[in-house]
This record gives sequence, structure tokens and C-alpha cells, in this order.
Amino acid sequence: MEKKRILTGDRPTGPLHLGHYVGSIQNRLQLQDTSEMFLIIADLHTLTTKSSKEEILQLRQNVKDLVLDSLALGIDPKKATFYLQSACPAVYELSLLLSMLVSTNRLFGLPSIKEMARNANINNDGMSLGLLSYPILQTADILMAKAHAVPVGKDNLAHLEISRDIARKFNQLYGDLFPEPQALLSAVPTLVGTDGKGKMSKSAGNCIYIKDDAKTVEKKVRGMFTDPARVHANTPGRVEDNPVFIYHDIFNPNHGEVNDLKKRYRLGTVGDVEVKQKLAIAINHFLEPVRKKRILLEQEKNLVEGLLFEGTAKMRALSEKTLDEVKAAMGLKGLWSKIVRGRKSPE
Ligand code: TRP
Repeated sequence: MEKKRILTGDRPTGPLHLGHYVGSIQNRLQLQDTSEMFLIIADLHTLTTKSSKEEILQLRQNVKDLVLDSLALGIDPKKATFYLQSACPAVYELSLLLSMLVSTNRLFGLPSIKEMARNANINNDGMSLGLLSYPILQTADILMAKAHAVPVGKDNLAHLEISRDIARKFNQLYGDLFPEPQALLSAVPTLVGTDGKGKMSKSAGNCIYIKDDAKTVEKKVRGMFTDPARVHANTPGRVEDNPVFIYHDIFNPNHGEVNDLKKRYRLGTVGDVEVKQKLAIAINHFLEPVRKKRILLEQEKNLVEGLLFEGTAKMRALSEKTLDEVKAAMGLKGLWSKIVRGRKSPE
């Protein structure tokens, strides 16, 4: 049986944190065994909010961190293919052609775009066409790979709706070419940050990073937000929606210990200090082998470069073939070849 093709990936914005692990990497670890998986490193999407020279020069380190963190967490390069978006020229052409198939109103209404603008301090008047058309570029990524399914976070579901509509519209107008890509939402889509305020994200500064050392993890856990109504260790506390217990449920495999802590927390017979100490131990226990593996991978010369070279070559071939089919279907292929070859001047 042919394996389903999956496309997923990230913008290279920096090192990975526990939120990435819970929200996407865990899911990818399962999918790499059962499907043909491409992992896009969406550097062009990063430009939609970060396009200064300094920010562009930062991309190299970010890409390296992204790949090393993913491998350390168990992504297997024999099973999954990493590729660099900006090094596949077909995506620039395809996104322009696909941009004819979606209305600007549809894009203006998207909460995800507004949120990205807000986070980057861009007001409505300052919104670039590039940011507005973020979902079109994403659609070009997905359709040029002819992906069947796309694992994404909640914030990307609306983009996938657009991708499906564009695929359907293209197929109606020019003939069946694209599968309609399905969105796959992972079971635990977002992880709350250490501050308990919103999801874990670099911009909010509430992350525990995969490469944080044991001491840093302890310090971050010690500073975590818990039940704000609980002033003393002997007041009964709330376990539900409490970030410390959310993390315990995910990272502490000792269920007996977690249940005991919860019971005593509700009764007011355990202090935050103990709950947090045990959490830091659990997280460090999870991260220790990952950190060790990362250090070994980092020492392998040209590992990341080699993987990216091969993976990108694979996607290039695939995407050029698709682009060729797109142009043929639209009647663009060879349309101007006589003129372009110079037999006749355009004027
Ligand atoms: N939009 C994704 C993010 O939120 C990154 C991305 C770009 C992507 N192109 C994609 C994800 C194609 C899945 C498929 O970071």
C-alpha cells in the first residue's frame, strides 16, 4: 500500500521548547513511521514578520537549532525529509498563480493573520501584502508537494480551509490535479507557558527550551505560576488549569506520585515547593537523554547541512514537476515560447 504523504513544519524562529514537543513533535514521531513525511523549514514565512537584514542573518542559526532539536527529540532523517522552503524556486511561482484563486476579503478576515501582525507590532495600515498572503504561500507549499494531510496547530486550521478551497477551485477550473489536503490536529494542541497566561511561546518569554540545562529547568519551574488564590501551603488549592499539574500530567510518568501530589494539594497538605521540585526532576529526566543526543549530533560535522541539501533536492524535483503540470493545466505552458525564443519581437 502506498503511504500517505504528509507535509508539516515550522518557521525557523529559534530553538524548540516543550510546547513544540507537546503540540507537534510528539505527533510527528508517530507519523514518521506510518507516512511519507516532509518537514518544511518555512523561512519565507518567517519573512512575513521579520524581514530586516539582521533577522535574515539570524535564520541560519535558527534553522540549525530547529533541525538539531528535532533530531534530538527523535525525528529520524531516514524516515522524514527536512527541506528549506526558500531553496525551492517553484514555490514563489506557484504562490503567485494560486493567489488568483482567493479573495483579499477572505484573507483580511483571518484572526491568525491579525494575531501575527499584533505580535509583531504591525497595525492594520502597515500590514504587508506578504503577511496578508501568508496562507497562499502555505497553500503553495502544500499543493506543490501534493500532500494528503497536514498536521497543524489550531491557529493554522483556517489556513488549511483556504488550501482546500484553492485546491478545489483549481481542480474545477483546470482539471483534477491536487488532492484536497486534510488538516490533522494533534491531541494536545497547545501547552500553557510557565507564566500560566497563554500558550508557551518565545515572544511571551514563558518557555522551557529543549536545550535548557538542568539548573535552568529547575529555576524556571521554581518560578512557575500556580494557583493564584493559594497564599499558604496549608490552604486547599486548585489542580485543574494549574500549569504545574498540567506539566506533571504530561512529563511525570510516575502516576502514583502525581495523584498523591494532587490529593495533598487539594487538601492543603503539600507546599508548592515540593510539587515543583518533583516536576523539575520529571522534566529533567525527560530532557536528559535529549540533551545528550543533541550534543553528539552537534559534533557530527555537516550533519544538518547534508540533510538539508538532500531533502531540498528531493522537494525541488517534486515541486518542479508539479509546477510544470500546473502550467500545462492552465494553458500557460509554451504559450509564449516563440516570442521568448526571439523569433519575433514582442512589440
Ligand atoms: N504556518 C506554519 C506555522 O505556523 C508553518 C508552515 C508553512 C507550514 N508552510 C507550511 C506548516 C506547510 C504545514 C504545511 O509555523
